[in-house]
Amino acid sequence: MSKRVALVTGGMGGIGTAVCRRLASANGNVVVANCLPGYEKRDEWLAAMRAEGFDNVFAAEGDVADFESCGAMVRGIESQIGPVDILVNGAGIVRDSMLRKMSPSDWLAVINTNLNSAFNVTKHLIDGMCERGWGRIVNLSSVNGQRGQFGQTNYSAAKAGIHGFAKALAQEVVKKGVTVNSVSPGYVETDMVRSIRPDVLERIVAGIPMGRLAKPEEIAGLIAYLTSDEAGYITGANIAINGGMYMA
Ligand code: CAA
Ligand code: NAP
Repeated sequence: MSKRVALVTGGMGGIGTAVCRRLASANGNVVVANCLPGYEKRDEWLAAMRAEGFDNVFAAEGDVADFESCGAMVRGIESQIGPVDILVNGAGIVRDSMLRKMSPSDWLAVINTNLNSAFNVTKHLIDGMCERGWGRIVNLSSVNGQRGQFGQTNYSAAKAGIHGFAKALAQEVVKKGVTVNSVSPGYVETDMVRSIRPDVLERIVAGIPMGRLAKPEEIAGLIAYLTSDEAGYITGANIAINGGMYMA
């Protein structure tokens, strides 16, 4: 199998880092971890990857909420590394509050970062994947996009939307060797979940049938599979990985 280039947005976050490790370990892939422009821990993160032996992991700055910024990032990757074969749309944020208290800026920040981002990044890559006849796109959706969550009208809407995007795009590119899928994790041990108020988090964990949070590596394993050749017949799917929290 030829060497492939993977772009992981939010690649230096909790799940993103685990995904970068998995993809970089597989078949000599070259992995590009996206981060926000000016991210202060970028060099530290890269040095940690090098220390783990990953000399095939690179960084690319770009704001996924901004279409032009994503275009510049993708053009930079293409000219310095090569065309992108695998895209993991992983960048995301939360701005939780009940709708009655939610500000327009908290609504828009989440929609722009978690949903419009899929368009902003994918649009710059999809023609190349189709022309080359191979591509893998995986979106990070969420159990809370499937079932809704108190305090997350913005996030639940974005995460449900991101899978709608996947299903529509999957149909458009199915004959071109490009698959488009989503994964919907439950609550995963990352900074995003650590930021939940401790009493609220305790109640959430108590409600998880498996009795624990997911590990980022468990999500990364599924994503690595979906980006492999073996998964070539899976497209338009939304795969739940939630410890039994929601069985669709
Ligand atoms: N269902 C029903 N009622 C609920 C509820 C729930 N799930 N959660 C809270 N309430 C009720 C409370 O009992 C309380 O009722 P009373 O006024 O009668 O006492 C009322 O709603 C207000 O609750 P809070 O005191 O919690 O309100 P708050 O404004 O301080 O906080 C909140 C609101 C920020 C949304 C907080 O409840 C919260 O953080 N909830 C968790 C949201 C969540 O799950 N976020 C996930 C982030 S990580 C992630 O999103 C990753 C992923 O994909 C899984
Ligand atoms: P995380 O550790 O907070 O990682 C998210 C990453 O996205 C961070 O590195 C963040 O950078 C980056 N990011 C935010 N806004 C960005 C932007 N505009 N442009 C580029 N990068 C941006 O969270 P995580 O838990 O790994 O989440 C990864 C994805 O999985 C998210 O889409 C999340 O919604 C989804 N998910 C998470 C869980 C969970 O329980 N953790 C469950 C289901 C789905 P900064 O740190 O610099 O802001």
